[in-house]
Amino acid sequence: MGMSISAKKNGPYRVEVTDGEIKLLDAEGKEFDLKGKTAFSLCRCGHSQNKPFCDGSHGRVGFQADDPAPRTTG
Ligand code: FES
Repeated sequence: MGMSISAKKNGPYRVEVTDGEIKLLDAEGKEFDLKGKTAFSLCRCGHSQNKPFCDGSHGRVGFQADDPAPRTTG
């Protein structure tokens, strides 16, 4: 399966699947209905009214993220 998860600047995590299917499960193992979607966004600001998905609330609350991937040296 080809999949990427990217952090959007001051926004959600964008999940994109290029090959195959992806499942998103809740804490009890119940599957969210993604209806064949190959991409979706997961809230990381905590303010979405549609968790775990992003509903755009990050913009309203002025969410600021500062979590760059660590740089390797050498
Ligand atoms: S990241 Fe978009 S609503 Fe939380």
